[in-house]
Amino acid sequence: MKTIVVGVSGSIAAYKVCDLLRALKKLDYDLEVIMTNNATKFISPLTIGALINKPVLLDDFDEEGYQIKHISYAKKADCFVIVPATANIIGKIANGICDDIVTSTFMAATCPKLIAPAMNVNMYDNLANQRNIERCKTYGIKFVEPGYGLLACGDVGRGKLADYQDIITMIEYCMNPKPLKNKYVLITAGPTQEAIDPVRYITNHSSGKMGYALAKQAFLLGARVTLIAGPTNLKVPYGIKSINITSAREMFEAVKENYHDQDFIIKAAAVGDYRPKETAVNKIKKKDDNLVLELVKNDDILSYLGQHKTNQIICGFAMETENLIKNAKDKFIKKNCDLLVANSLKESGAGFKGDTNKVTLITADEIEEKNIMTKDEVAKTILYKLIEIKGEEKC
Ligand code: CTP
Repeated sequence: MKTIVVGVSGSIAAYKVCDLLRALKKLDYDLEVIMTNNATKFISPLTIGALINKPVLLDDFDEEGYQIKHISYAKKADCFVIVPATANIIGKIANGICDDIVTSTFMAATCPKLIAPAMNVNMYDNLANQRNIERCKTYGIKFVEPGYGLLACGDVGRGKLADYQDIITMIEYCMNPKPLKNKYVLITAGPTQEAIDPVRYITNHSSGKMGYALAKQAFLLGARVTLIAGPTNLKVPYGIKSINITSAREMFEAVKENYHDQDFIIKAAAVGDYRPKETAVNKIKKKDDNLVLELVKNDDILSYLGQHKTNQIICGFAMETENLIKNAKDKFIKKNCDLLVANSLKESGAGFKGDTNKVTLITADEIEEKNIMTKDEVAKTILYKLIEIKGEEKC
């Protein structure tokens, strides 16, 4: 079990650390919390202690004799994150000052370190603060960028503590191996919508979950990720460049603009094969008769990539309802893929909306049927397979 040490400093956003701790606990991390004196003015150590089921280390020289606590906490940390971090604590860390329990422990820790700032926009943008942040980065400390919005003081701007999900993504990023470091990964996700008129469109049931899981996992493995996604209800994972599109034609344009410099391209999107020949300018009114829509074929983006690839490793998907392996193998060959991920809508635990998937990986040499896994686990399996293919290619 990995230990996350969470340092809390005196910002109004200190109450938000509770959501973070609850979520980390659900993920089975061992947690330790250290609070500065000022932090205890914003949130009670009792609240935090109850959430993590153990005492909080406080800034009151309460060492129990034989153990120097700030050193022992520093040693047991697999990741140390300061949430929220004030301008003051960032300034102290940048300049090697450790005059409280959080900065002392942070300085003594040799594990990956992360800072989640929260403060007024003018304090955040202040040159001294920005210089301190840059200096901390040169020590190898990572930052979770604060969000933009209404701040406690009433100002609007950058300085809101990042969402706890984004902080967790960065904690995992800090601890993860990075086999995709400096690699560029392009992922397409979600459905496309083909407009019939200003009111209606043709689409499919894709939720985008598989593609978004691939984007997040690729980021956690160190990649620079671009996500081209159709309309979904999902939040773009932290650290990812996202391009929103609506139609298959827009997706094709975005892919053509972005595919050249990629190392890996994963086409998880459920692209509409057809679009209405004409999109009516005004709402089509109901008539007594039936309505016939003429559909024309969209370009096949994956086939285009298969024909135009230079060094990119290309991964396609196949969602089938019958003859899974045969249809998927045909697509693998026809679209010139390096990997094809086949999944069947008929299989329980697979498909669009759920959080699990059951896939078969098809390469030039083998067909590997995988057990049912969460979409995050499937994503990781696909990415490691692509790394293996890229490695073989180099040899
Ligand atoms: N794909 C694409 N462009 C399209 C259609 C599909 O890039 N116009 C990609 C998908 O992103 C996926 C793969 O091709 O990676 C297979 O998509 P799928 O819909 O399963 O296959 P199709 O080629 O559309 O064939 P069919 O609908 O007949 O199964």
